[in-house]
Formats: sequence, structure tokens, C-alpha cells
Amino acid sequence: MKDIEIITKVTAKEYGELSAEERRLVDMAREATGGSYSPYSKFKVGAAILLDNGEIVTGANQENVAFPSGTCAERSACFYAGAKYPEARFEMIAIDAIGTDGLESAQPTAPCGACRQALLEYEMRAGHNVPVLLAGRDVVYRLPSVKSLLPLSFTEF
Ligand code: THU
Repeated sequence: MKDIEIITKVTAKEYGELSAEERRLVDMAREATGGSYSPYSKFKVGAAILLDNGEIVTGANQENVAFPSGTCAERSACFYAGAKYPEARFEMIAIDAIGTDGLESAQPTAPCGACRQALLEYEMRAGHNVPVLLAGRDVVYRLPSVKSLLPLSFTEF
């Protein structure tokens, strides 16, 4: 028997410590919350994805009166990026949210399990690590890859 330890490296940065490219992506994720349709949860999530063709694709959560029919910001962004630029590869992802109090969430917003799985597919297609920035008002978490958010993931059958 042996234990396998899985370690996720998270770098906590202040906004000012981000690179210009990272700041831009976080800004765009924050701006994308403006496209949220969330009359039920009143929780606005925005995602921004930098592609290797230089484009930045954004998305926001879209809710539905039949709750499971809605989708998260991350999936609206990654599916749109995949549909609009099928040849492009993901370079970096940022996620931000405005809470029910109307303020940017103090703590970083992390993607749900389904979004982690969806984003992982695009990281695999990219063939390299895709860093993820989880933005909050007080701190931004930088993860080196989508995979690091979803260890022991289902990747083949
Ligand atoms: N939400 C996202 O957009 N991304 C996540 O990763 C977690 C949750 C949305 C779904 C729903 O519209 C609202 O946040 C509350 O759960």
C-alpha cells in the first residue's frame, strides 16, 4: 500500500502583482459579469478566455426558470470560444463574480465541477497548461492549469 499525495499549487496575488496580461483578463472577466442573466440567484459570474490567436472571449452565467437549463459563465465562455474559433487554443482563463450584495466577491470565485470538466477538455486540446485566475476583491488566486483544479480527472475512455 502507498499513499499518493496530490498537491495543488495556488499563488495568491494582489491585483497589483498581476502581469499586465493577467490584469487585462481579470478586468474582462469582471466586465463580463455585466452580461449575466441571473434573476434567480442574483449572483453574476463572468469568465474571460485568452486564445492563442489573441482574441479574448467572454461569457456570463445564463439562468433559466427551469434551473438546470441554465449554464455557468465558464461554460458559456468556453463553448462560445470553441464554436467561434475552433482552431484556436486556450492560453489563460479568468473568472470573477459580483455577489448578491452587488459587490465583487471578496474571495475568489472558483468554477463548479461541471465547468472544471468542460474547461479541462480545452486544456487537453491546447496541449499545454492553461493558467486559471480566480479573481476576488481582496485577492486573486492563480492556478497553473485547469488540471490542477480537477485532479484524478476523467480524461479518456
Ligand atoms: N455559476 C457560474 O456561473 N459559475 C460557477 O462556476 C458557479 C456558479 C453561476 C450559476 C448560477 O447562475 C449562479 O452562479 C449561482 O449558482
